[in-house]
Amino acid sequence: MSLLSNKIYYSSVNEDSTSEYQALRIRPADRILCITGSGARPLDLLVKSPGEVVSIDCNPLQNFLLELKLAALKHFEYEEFLSFLGISNRRNRIAAYRKIRNLLSFDARQYWDRHQADIHYGIFYNGNWEKYFRLLSLYLRTTRKRILSMLFSSSSLEEQKNIWDTQWENPFWRIFLRSVSLRAVWKYFLKDPGFYKYVPDDFSVYRYLHGRLIGASRHILLKDSPFTVILFNGKLSETGALPPHLQKQHYATLQSQIDRITVKTVSLSSIANGGKYGKFDAFSLSDFSSYTSIREYRECWGAIRRIASTGARICERQFLVKREMPGHCKYVFTRNTGLEDNLSKNDNSIFYTFVCASME
Ligand SMILES: C[S@@+](CC[C@H](N)C(=O)[O-])C[C@H]1O[C@@H](n2cnc3c(N)ncnc32)[C@H](O)[C@@H]1O
Repeated sequence: MSLLSNKIYYSSVNEDSTSEYQALRIRPADRILCITGSGARPLDLLVKSPGEVVSIDCNPLQNFLLELKLAALKHFEYEEFLSFLGISNRRNRIAAYRKIRNLLSFDARQYWDRHQADIHYGIFYNGNWEKYFRLLSLYLRTTRKRILSMLFSSSSLEEQKNIWDTQWENPFWRIFLRSVSLRAVWKYFLKDPGFYKYVPDDFSVYRYLHGRLIGASRHILLKDSPFTVILFNGKLSETGALPPHLQKQHYATLQSQIDRITVKTVSLSSIANGGKYGKFDAFSLSDFSSYTSIREYRECWGAIRRIASTGARICERQFLVKREMPGHCKYVFTRNTGLEDNLSKNDNSIFYTFVCASME
């Protein structure tokens, strides 16, 4: 099944986990099933002290990345952790890696032993998505430096909206956005199937992104969103907006609960086979629909239905591929459309709509 297994596609943070907090209402005994991706979401969920997080991804490399982040979290103090990831400067990350490589699984160690250049560079910005958007942000930082800094130093939504409407939004911006929204660009440059493979032909990617960005300029202070800081500025600053798992105030909590995360390479559609992983009280599914055909999307929801405990909460994100919950699930899951609309408007990773449901 896996469309993605040849490289690390996501390594930093491009989702706002405060949405998952609202949708999943995490309780101390909860068992959470979570898609790994960059590892940001499973680590952010752990900040809320659930009983267990089972983090799955069909791309083993994403899981190797999470394993390395967990090993660093287990071994290093906070500042060392940030510098090992590449958020702050550090000279000898390879020496640091040697101190933690024995904490990795055999396969993860094999992989990272062969990819020490990525560790040297800093694993946080080494994903395919991060590299691509760093290029785009470099272009914006070069051509629109003054307006960009005005936008990211806005102190109010009113001020930001005014700068966006009167200075940012112009033919130059629209031409830029139209060109980076071309499917051919995503197919041959970004090479991430989630951005084109299942996106309907009649879906205007440009109009969708343009509309979501205008909406964000009115509802989200861009400087307070780790996602938009990376999107427009290419990287985070230690003193700026950080996701929960990178905030100093949560570090001790995370370190004390590391053993509550298990990492598995398995696809969502086969997670229920044989009941091997038991039942779950909450599901954080990211935008898996971006990588699934309609048939497989149904299979995934079928699997969720089989392993959801009574009262289980589901939070799914949808990017360009908008899918309907399969018919057979509509009788067992209740959607919270009010919450979905609220998260779609205020989630500071801008581009997602939500499916928030609970098992009756
Ligand atoms: C869009 S990405 C999530 C990235 C996310 N924004 C992040 O930064 O963590 C989706 C992730 O889900 C994984 N994935 C997609 N479909 C899956 C499936 N059916 N089962 C398991 N993992 C899946 C992909 O390998 C990818 O790592």
